[in-house]
Amino acid sequence: MQMNYNESQTRKNLMRAFAGECQSRQRYYQAALIAQQQKLIGLERMFRFTAEQEERHAMVFWKLMKAGSGSTVDISAGFPADVFDEIQQLLDASANEEDKEFSKVYPDFARIAREEGFTEAAEKFSMIAEIENIHRARFQYYAGLYKADMLFRSNDTEQCWMCLNCGHIHKGSEPPAECPVCSSARGYFIREEEAAFTSCDVVG
Ligand SMILES: [Fe+2]
Ligand SMILES: [Fe+2]
Repeated sequence: MQMNYNESQTRKNLMRAFAGECQSRQRYYQAALIAQQQKLIGLERMFRFTAEQEERHAMVFWKLMKAGSGSTVDISAGFPADVFDEIQQLLDASANEEDKEFSKVYPDFARIAREEGFTEAAEKFSMIAEIENIHRARFQYYAGLYKADMLFRSNDTEQCWMCLNCGHIHKGSEPPAECPVCSSARGYFIREEEAAFTSCDVVG
């Protein structure tokens, strides 16, 4: 049976989740700007891409709070004050936060929502937890490449690299220092398999 929404813990947890998602979005936008300043355009896009997904998560939780419209929800919660300007710190801290959301915060919120009878909220908490795990893996992947200085290096001499500016594909263990088509710097190149909506198959 569903308990009264305004007396529920789920009401507070939805507001916590909403606040958390808005902050994640903002943190990743900040990180994107730092990557952009360092001409690491692949990382910039990755942070923006993830930031937009956090924005959508915020909207999902926002809509679930409709039953409490017109009221104010007081919450206490811990939020990360990770104001970093090093790429490695940003990637590591982001992976860490995602891991907490995936492994602890949202599973707890889902369980409480289920106990209180808020099935839809429980499902959204669980499903968004799974997405946060994908985000965790994404950040960890790039943190690993960055740490190993492999962002622009591959052990595969047949690696395809895509210029994010013009779409040029380069094959080799490293992308060129400058795109031969549009002259963009190396920071525009990503591994082709990391690019959305494309395939290396057409390149001979
Ligand atoms: Fe999220
Ligand atoms: Fe996330």
